[in-house]
Amino acid sequence: MLQDTYNRPLRDLRISVTDRCNYRCTYCMPFDEYAWIPRAEVLTYEETARLAQIFLGLGAEKIRLTGGEPLARKNLEVLIRKIAPLAGLKELCLTTNGAYLAEKAAALKSAGLVRLNVSLDTLEPEKFRRLTKRGELGPVLEGLEEAKRLGFRPIKLNAVIERGVNEEEILPLAEFARARGFAIRYIEYMDVGNANDWNLAKVVSKKQILAALGARFQLREKGRQEPGAPAVDYEYEDGGGEVGIIASVTEPFCGACARARLTADGKLVTCLFADHGHDLKSLVRIGASDEEIRKDIEAVWQARRDRYSEERFVALNASRYQPREHSKMEMIVLGG
Ligand code: GTP
Ligand code: 5AD
Ligand code: SF4
Ligand code: SF4
Repeated sequence: MLQDTYNRPLRDLRISVTDRCNYRCTYCMPFDEYAWIPRAEVLTYEETARLAQIFLGLGAEKIRLTGGEPLARKNLEVLIRKIAPLAGLKELCLTTNGAYLAEKAAALKSAGLVRLNVSLDTLEPEKFRRLTKRGELGPVLEGLEEAKRLGFRPIKLNAVIERGVNEEEILPLAEFARARGFAIRYIEYMDVGNANDWNLAKVVSKKQILAALGARFQLREKGRQEPGAPAVDYEYEDGGGEVGIIASVTEPFCGACARARLTADGKLVTCLFADHGHDLKSLVRIGASDEEIRKDIEAVWQARRDRYSEERFVALNASRYQPREHSKMEMIVLGG
């Protein structure tokens, strides 16, 4: 079995299909302009599906499509149709900001997508505009309803909680998710990329999120769905649904991290906080065989030693963490 230097297998593949996005979330990509990946460098759907198949052959079981905003790429259903039937695939998921969901949900569903994660950090229209700089809340709520009507399951809401921005929305978001039958995950604000303005004071910790929820709800801890899953899951004692907390800053989960990332321009990235990726596109485009590509991926994974969040945790505790000393790829290129 393929394993990295800490004996971690490669189980999840997160494929970013584009680095473009219709929003400019303050915690991700606040700049209007950026050195976007030139279109000719973006993998075609045929190239992406071929690489996906090779990753599945190496032990990956779960594929998540991300961006930028994945629905900003034209005809994403074409890629889903190619990937959904591949041998070895147990789960195919999409993480989206939801802006185009109402119009795209039916096509995604009939192409074979079942699971959806949708970002939603606030239920206040004005704050939503401010946080995303370009977004409107209404279409996201419509998209969520349409996805529910079409039978996507589960639908999980992702809420990044930032101090001074939306911490008072922890309970309203929980109420909303319970009332509509969505799962919700609260995410500690992370120092991904170099574009946001992260500092530790802006992080609302897992403990603080649980305390806010505890003021109204009784929760029972279920633990992680798998050992390397980012979220620790909880359920309401009264049967009101599920809540997860993703605490990369205060409870890092690198120990069992089995996630590989593929960027839209075909780079293999072995950590969300990496400063570079390993070019697979060139191999694909010079006509390498599946076996040659497979060997190349194996060599990268076998050398993998990433455990950034655990290292950050140690440095934070010793008060010697300087986020800007680390150059990192941007979240908008990696898709989380
Ligand atoms: P599920 O399969 O539904 O559990 O999805 P997921 O939580 O793995 O994926 P999603 O795209 O919804 O990401 C939710 C949050 O978790 C985002 O903020 C991601 O950046 C973060 N996340 C996902 N994987 C990792 C990881 O390997 N390391 C860190 N630090 N954060 C991660
Ligand atoms: N910290 C935590 N989560 C983030 N996301 C984007 N930027 C950050 C950040 N700095 C989340 C988005 C989306 C997921 C892919 O990553 O809200 O739900
Ligand atoms: Fe916001 Fe996601 Fe777009 Fe980043 S990629 S700006 S988090 S919607
Ligand atoms: Fe995996 Fe890197 Fe996230 Fe740790 S910080 S869980 S190694 S992606």
